[in-house]
Parts: sequence; structure tokens; C-alpha cells
Amino acid sequence: MSSPFFLRDASPFDLEAMHRLDQLCFAEPFRFDLATMRHYALEPGAIVLLAFASQGHPPELLGFVLLNLLRRRSLDLAYVTTLDVHPDHRRQGLAELLMSAGETRAAATSAGVLRLHVSTTNREAIRFYERIGFSPRVFVPDFYGEGLDARIYSKVLG
Ligand SMILES: CC(C)(COP(=O)(O)OP(=O)(O)OC[C@H]1O[C@@H](n2cnc3c(N)ncnc32)[C@H](O)[C@@H]1OP(=O)(O)O)[C@@H](O)C(=O)NCCC(=O)NCCS
Repeated sequence: MSSPFFLRDASPFDLEAMHRLDQLCFAEPFRFDLATMRHYALEPGAIVLLAFASQGHPPELLGFVLLNLLRRRSLDLAYVTTLDVHPDHRRQGLAELLMSAGETRAAATSAGVLRLHVSTTNREAIRFYERIGFSPRVFVPDFYGEGLDARIYSKVLG
């Protein structure tokens, strides 16, 4: 049976649809404004993968992942800047599909580790990241604003 989803790389023409989906996925202050999303998506080395429904014309954007390559001390890492799945299409394996493809792409660079921040109140995302092999690291108080704490999660690639 053919997959109900397909992935492709983003182009600058996708930014507005990505931004609309981000607004659906995140409340203030966790969401990006369009200029910030453009900045990260167009950064050199950024990996931006979009997921669409295979059926339907034009294809509907169901999710995306945005990874940026960073160098911290002597370590090259791929940072998960955002991961968004449309609320009507969750628990269908889309995030896992996007992260798996993103990991493969990141592993093909010099990045040895995937890293991200997640809000300590975002139980769905924490469950998801732990399920796909991320481990909790440093607690970062007030990362998203006063009283809005994060925890860093990471996963060794390869
Ligand atoms: C977190 C998020 C990306 C997960 O996307 P998804 O496509 O629904 O995830 P998947 O279908 O690939 O889920 C795989 C597993 O993750 C865990 N998981 C995902 N959503 C969950 C939920 N609401 N409750 C409990 N576990 C959940 C489960 O283990 C799930 O496996 P299962 O469905 O067999 O139980 C999605 O909920 C989302 O976009 N949330 C808003 C944006 C966000 O928080 N992004 C991450 C920020 S760092």
C-alpha cells in the first residue's frame, strides 16, 4: 500500500504556509513570527522538511521539521528549531516520519548530536521525544519567558 504522506524539502515559497501551521500548533510565546521563521529556515545548512497528504490537490501541508546546524564548543550539532504537526493529523506517525528523515539528513552532515529545547509543560512532545530516543539534559529556567521553563533533550546520531 502506498504511503498516505510524502515529504519534500521546503523552498522560500513555503514559508507562509509553514508560518500558518506554526500558529495552529503553538500558543504565544512559543510560536514564531514570520520574519523569525524565515531567518531560521533560510539559514545556511538549514534542513527543512515538509510533510503532505498524498491525496488531495493542491497537497495540504500537514507538518514540518526545521533543523539548524550549530557549533557548540568543539561539537557540531543539529538543533531542532521547531517540529509542527497539524492538530487534525496527530498520532498518525507524522512527527516520527519527519524526525527520522531529519535525523538521516543531519547525520549526513558533520553533526554528531541532535539537540532541542522543549517546554516542561509540553507533555505530548516530551513523550514523543523520549519515545524516539532523546534523553533529558539540562533544565533551563525561564527559557520561554518568566516562569516558562524548558529542558534540553539530546540524541546521539549514528
Ligand atoms: C508533539 C507532536 C509534534 C507529535 O506529533 P505526532 O505526529 O502526533 O506524533 P506521532 O504520531 O509521530 O507520535 C509518536 C508517539 O509520540 C507520543 N505522543 C505523541 N503525541 C502524544 C500525545 N498527545 N499524548 C501522549 N503521547 C503522545 C506517543 O508515544 C506516540 O505514539 P503512539 O501514537 O503510538 O502512542 C505534535 O503533537 C505537535 O505538533 N504538537 C505541537 C507542536 C509541538 O509541541 N512541537 C514540539 C515542540 S519542541
